[in-house]
Amino acid sequence: MKLENIINLKKYPIHDLNSKTTKELINKCKNELDQFSCSTISGFILPKSIKIMLKEVQKKLDGVYWSKESINPYLNSKDEPSLPKNHPKRIFSNRNNGYLNSDLFEKDSELKFLYEQQELLDFVSACVGISPIYRWADPLACHAYNMMKPDGILPWHFDSCEFTLSILIQKSEKGGIFEYCPDIREPGNENYNEIKKVLCGNHKRVRQLKLEPGDLQIFKGRFTLHRVTKIEGNLSRYLAIPAYVLDPWRVNTPEHSRAVYGKVLPIHVARNKVRSDGLAD
Ligand SMILES: [Fe+2]
Repeated sequence: MKLENIINLKKYPIHDLNSKTTKELINKCKNELDQFSCSTISGFILPKSIKIMLKEVQKKLDGVYWSKESINPYLNSKDEPSLPKNHPKRIFSNRNNGYLNSDLFEKDSELKFLYEQQELLDFVSACVGISPIYRWADPLACHAYNMMKPDGILPWHFDSCEFTLSILIQKSEKGGIFEYCPDIREPGNENYNEIKKVLCGNHKRVRQLKLEPGDLQIFKGRFTLHRVTKIEGNLSRYLAIPAYVLDPWRVNTPEHSRAVYGKVLPIHVARNKVRSDGLAD
């Protein structure tokens, strides 16, 4: 399994950060990320690699953790009655999706291999303009597949990792559209009022992204409220979501891991400390 069999290196030679083509690509991504907190590179992953990833998903369908538990934008399902009734933390929306957790992947998994390549990490680091960034220490969430069956929905939320890559493996026939509100919060500013507006149906600052199988999306998921609209038609939507973080030690909170990934490991309990950026999750 070589990187050249997975990424279209002829078009996007990310293994050579000093090449003119890659420098231009990094500039494009950086500009889009600065402006919209999201950037897309079309046809980044080769079709034959997408096929292999689809096969690895289909082989593990029995292991997917499906959940319909309602969540607030911080991926939490617990109410906090001490807060005002219309506080975003108290607004829960219907969710119906699943995750194929990273700990269930085969040793020779295509996605796991891709995630572990230093070339990809260095490229993403250059695109987000931050060095170092790290692979996520969370053993369940670090390079999961996000699974949505017909009628599935993923409501407005923030990710707990700073940077998420999304690679669409299989597209739904209709619906399943990624919507996002760029940079709606930042460390030290939760911006609850603006978040409340979006949750209550004001979509002035909402953008939509058209993603095709094989495209790579780089996305600042911790600071950007986002959702996936309802899956319509008969085909499920499968999305690979390898993630990168600023803190190599941090993992999901036990509550978040239970609600989203279906289990809590000792590492989630041992590392359950207040986040250094002060943001809720
Ligand atoms: Fe997300």
